[in-house]
Amino acid sequence: PPAPLVFSLPSVGDVSIALDKFVANCSSQAIKAHGRFTIAVSGGSLPNTLAAVLKNNREVDFSKWHVFFADERCVPLDHEDSNYLLAKKELLDHVPIPTGNVHPINNNLVKNPSEAAEDYESVLVKVFNDKNEVRFPTFDLILLGIGPDGHTCSLFPGHTLLEEKDLWVAPIEDSPKPPPQRITLTYPILNHANAIAFVVTGSNKQATLEKILDEKDNSLPATRVKLAHGQLYWFLDDAASATLKKT
Ligand code: 6PG
Repeated sequence: PPAPLVFSLPSVGDVSIALDKFVANCSSQAIKAHGRFTIAVSGGSLPNTLAAVLKNNREVDFSKWHVFFADERCVPLDHEDSNYLLAKKELLDHVPIPTGNVHPINNNLVKNPSEAAEDYESVLVKVFNDKNEVRFPTFDLILLGIGPDGHTCSLFPGHTLLEEKDLWVAPIEDSPKPPPQRITLTYPILNHANAIAFVVTGSNKQATLEKILDEKDNSLPATRVKLAHGQLYWFLDDAASATLKKT
């Protein structure tokens, strides 16, 4: 697989500008190639950084987008902890994505992560409709953050889910980052994507980035994102990248 491409921009605002261009380009290439753009987003600071510029971009054909959640907290969709609600407020409410093309978790199943995960997998099967052909769906783009412990999606250090080989979407009952009940995409899905971009900003991420990008600790969950055939990108701000080895 190609080496990861790492970009560091002066400020978070500049990361938003770069992400706008990058996502618009991924979107138009995917739509040209196969008529739609499948994207999964995570929570945390990502939706805000992503949406800042992109939400005003009228050149993107949002009507062809299918939006999924890389991980989701098992809370009702109108709960303040919901990654869906965050993405809705920051981006989805501002752009013309058809409602049926936005795929939140099933609001009736949020009390039961196993059922919620199974249901979400069935949504992926329906949209990608190729479970029998390639075994794993291929997202055009997945946008991820990293936590201070090196987690990404809801894949946390030392957790048994790091070894998951079969499920597309897995339940988690014991997330160390609250809330404890979540669902998450698994490595087989992540690593089958056409492109993944990590978006990491702020000086509090320096030590974690050193472990991952300067390979000081190869055990962290984010280091296991290794695309089988796609391209991995890192969008950083200079505050986050300040202590990385210069290459
Ligand atoms: C969540 C997120 C999580 C997040 C990272 C980074 O449910 O909390 O999806 O995986 O992306 O923890 O969060 P920050 O960008 O806020 O540091």
